[in-house]
Amino acid sequence: MGKRLENKKAVITGGTTGLGFETAKRYIEEGAEVLITGRTQQKIDEAVKKLGKGTHGIAADARNNADLDKLAKKAKEVFGHVDILFANAGGGVFAPIEEVDEKSYYDQFDVNVKGVFFTVQKILPLLKKGSSIILNASAVNSKGGAGSSLYFASKATVRSFARSMAAELGSKGIRVNSLSPGLIPTKFFSNSNLGENSFTEFEEKMLTAIPLGRAGTPLEIANAAVFLGSDEASYVTAEDLVVDGGWMNV
Ligand SMILES: NC(=O)c1ccc[n+]([C@@H]2O[C@H](COP(=O)([O-])OP(=O)(O)OC[C@H]3O[C@@H](n4cnc5c(N)ncnc54)[C@H](OP(=O)(O)O)[C@@H]3O)[C@@H](O)[C@H]2O)c1
Repeated sequence: MGKRLENKKAVITGGTTGLGFETAKRYIEEGAEVLITGRTQQKIDEAVKKLGKGTHGIAADARNNADLDKLAKKAKEVFGHVDILFANAGGGVFAPIEEVDEKSYYDQFDVNVKGVFFTVQKILPLLKKGSSIILNASAVNSKGGAGSSLYFASKATVRSFARSMAAELGSKGIRVNSLSPGLIPTKFFSNSNLGENSFTEFEEKMLTAIPLGRAGTPLEIANAAVFLGSDEASYVTAEDLVVDGGWMNV
């Protein structure tokens, strides 16, 4: 069997660490070239070096439309067109209702919702028939959680975007799906406002509710992103691929 993403050109937002980084690694192994983003040039340079041949990078803050214009310009320069867009950049803001203020509200929605929407809008002119858009949602997208109104709602919106965008772009031969990871150890938790130990705290609360009885790995998410990006998924659109050990669906 040949490589599954041979010659494909992929844009992965938030590719410096975690799920985006692991997906970039798998994409390169499967024959793709990738363009990754993050907020700082230093972290981009480190990630591009680690990922090696076939990797490009640009600092582009997903909250900032001028940065997303620069990302689209760079993608056009290095690739000409884009076959796979993984809109993955995101983070978590968690607080009880009483403690949410306007700043935390916008901190959450600017990156997870506005960022995802405008990333798609800006890259769209570079996507041709047969291309794949993958939006990183979360297995929380159809759940509720105390202290989690902002994060869960942001991810419900991302799942909703995949439905409407798939409806709108199907006639152009562009597939749009969301990918919904469950609990995966990454910097997501220490980068959130809950801080260093929050992964362990979530793990303690969630483990008994996960049929497979464990957290997932970044590789397990990256493998799902390979499938959705590849031509093996040519008839899959508007779907939500939940990769969470069964947590959401039981
Ligand atoms: N880990 C989980 O359990 C889990 C579960 C479900 C969904 N997710 C989703 O998976 C996605 C990736 O998270 P992760 O777990 O891989 O966490 P992570 O290791 O913290 O990665 C987040 C990535 O997004 C980038 N990023 C953050 N804010 C950005 C911005 N404003 N503009 C551009 N890039 C930005 C970060 O880059 P820099 O720091 O270099 O800027 C980094 O590359 C998120 O959308 C998250 O909600 C994670």
